[in-house]
Amino acid sequence: DAPGVDPFTVAAQAAERIAEISGVARHDIALTLGSGWGRAAELMGETVATIPATEIPGFSKPALVGHVGTLRSVRLPSGKHALVIGARTHYYEGHGVRRVVHSVRTAAAAGATTMILTNGAGGIKETWTPGTPVLISDHINLTADSPLEGATFIDLTDLYSSRLRGIAREVAPELDEGVYCQFRGPHYETPAEVQMAKAIGGHIVGMSTALEAIAARQAGMEVLGLSLITNLAAGIQKTPLSHEEVIEAGRAAEPVISDLLARVVERL
Ligand code: 6GU
Repeated sequence: DAPGVDPFTVAAQAAERIAEISGVARHDIALTLGSGWGRAAELMGETVATIPATEIPGFSKPALVGHVGTLRSVRLPSGKHALVIGARTHYYEGHGVRRVVHSVRTAAAAGATTMILTNGAGGIKETWTPGTPVLISDHINLTADSPLEGATFIDLTDLYSSRLRGIAREVAPELDEGVYCQFRGPHYETPAEVQMAKAIGGHIVGMSTALEAIAARQAGMEVLGLSLITNLAAGIQKTPLSHEEVIEAGRAAEPVISDLLARVVERL
């Protein structure tokens, strides 16, 4: 993110490095695994290479427990290749939006035409219990930022592909869906902010995904978004939120949602 450095050039270099290390020239699908989704990679197929993110240009060190910090190249039973990104840079880390979307641009440069974004998030619908996976139908970006620079006017209709949501529903017909609100974080929302999110049409609150989805659309990728509801949002749940509770809910739900994700990927 130094001045004069083109983010797409760095992404191309990162993709080249991944191809070199993995021996896989082209990755078809990319997945970013958020809290709770980490086991999906093992279930999807055979790991060809596990690459520490620090070996790839443009990636920063993972800031968080529960975030792995590696990229994996996985060969799917179909013969396609998936790039599994376990190294997410969050907007709240303060490195700027270019760093946040670098993994998405790298995936696009590596050849991926499908971007699956997953996260752990807070639920606004009272019927969702911790451990519920939810399809993202659309988002509201409350960061007041964008990965697009200059006069880049792109359409975001059907950003979270209805075609891909349909495929996910074939695997799991009971999947509910909702509108994801990306807040800056890293604090959780106040109950009043959660009420605002609800009033403007939100169902899920989190700190990732929307900016990444915009970058994926800019790169021409088809996007699937999945949230794991790790807790209800502030004021909806009556007890205070804690990061430990979020991580624990992710851990508990991991086998079920990882299996779900692996079965969705199998159909792409
Ligand atoms: Cl309640 N809010 C946000 N922004 N992120 C979360 C969350 C809540 N629960 C898990 N992640």
